[in-house]
Amino acid sequence: MELSKEEEEILEGKQGVAKQKAMEILVALGNIYGAENLIPVASVQVSGVSYKNLGDAGFEFLQEWADSGAITQVLTTLNPAGMDLEQWESMGFSPSFAQKQLCVISCFSRFGIPPLCSCTPYLVGNLPLLGQHIAWAESSAVSFANSVLGARTNREGGPSALAAAIIGKTANYGFHLERNRKANYLIQVKCLLKDEADFGALGYLVGKKIGSSIPYFKGIPEFPSMEKLKALGAAMAASGSVALYHIENITPEAKMQNMLLENHETMQILSLQEGYEKLNSSCKDIDMVSLGCPHASWEEIRQVASYLEGKKLKSRLWITTASPLAAFARRSGLEKKIQNAGGFIVGDTCMIVSPIQDLGVRSLATNSAKAACYAPSHCNVNVRYGNLKQCLDAAIEGSFSE
Ligand code: F3S
Repeated sequence: MELSKEEEEILEGKQGVAKQKAMEILVALGNIYGAENLIPVASVQVSGVSYKNLGDAGFEFLQEWADSGAITQVLTTLNPAGMDLEQWESMGFSPSFAQKQLCVISCFSRFGIPPLCSCTPYLVGNLPLLGQHIAWAESSAVSFANSVLGARTNREGGPSALAAAIIGKTANYGFHLERNRKANYLIQVKCLLKDEADFGALGYLVGKKIGSSIPYFKGIPEFPSMEKLKALGAAMAASGSVALYHIENITPEAKMQNMLLENHETMQILSLQEGYEKLNSSCKDIDMVSLGCPHASWEEIRQVASYLEGKKLKSRLWITTASPLAAFARRSGLEKKIQNAGGFIVGDTCMIVSPIQDLGVRSLATNSAKAACYAPSHCNVNVRYGNLKQCLDAAIEGSFSE
């Protein structure tokens, strides 16, 4: 890989061990993937924030890097942590877990990273533009940034994202290169897509079939809401490892030029039924309803508050979101409406990366195909999958009806 004089000096340790370590990671990755050079990034999103996933070894690695004086050079935000950083006590998280999680967050603060823990950073101030190079780690956010915003990122790991933040650059390969961004799979959608759960089921089916290919959708009606697009991308990233998709006449790159390779495979989606079947278990009683995967938008919080006004819940309800949106919900009175029904707006975390088994949760309803895909293995729970209304009705009744 060709490095500038300054980059060589960093690699040799002339600007300190913190930067040297970051540069070593970037150069190693660049060499593995055949990058020609490094390119500046506009922003970074770091994963590996929840202590549940990080563990003591990950925390020690971070701490050592922070001790060496590493500081981020560009706007950097974090993926969800393992708990709401403010309300953890009232929500039942153990002090021992909380103490470790807070140490992880304060370690990131030493890198100059604000405690903004969200998988939808694009809703709260980390919003890259069309064509901008970024280094993001969370799979659903990577998909949204590449596809809906038209920014350019590979799916970074936690250490490589942090290395990019410390240097302000990333290795120039993969989705950073124009030639790698065209679709090699045509998806012809020939069924009705009513709501976010349908988009999630579609994403689940497509991701399962195409793995890490790039899909090009035809037959999606104009204009799906931002919430439906985030559900689609998150599901494809979870059931497969799709990091970029195009939709005819909708996503920015597909509007500007032909993004479908001549030599492509084709998949037809005639029905979503198989997706719903695979994402559902047969459990009826619901301990918890989880909404906001990826983190809820303002509109999603508003819809929940309006549906729950004057109602009472039998099951625990979490709407997970970025902490600034949770704060707006508090200020605007939406949180009160949800709390009066018995639900929580939960900032900073999500049920997949938090230790919900310790809260006694054994069965879950969700409108997120990503959560439905991960929850059985990550959280050891039975899952019911449906749209927002079905999930909220399940929280009200304590059971999921068809
Ligand atoms: Fe976000 Fe957690 Fe879902 S990180 S995409 S809410 S699994």
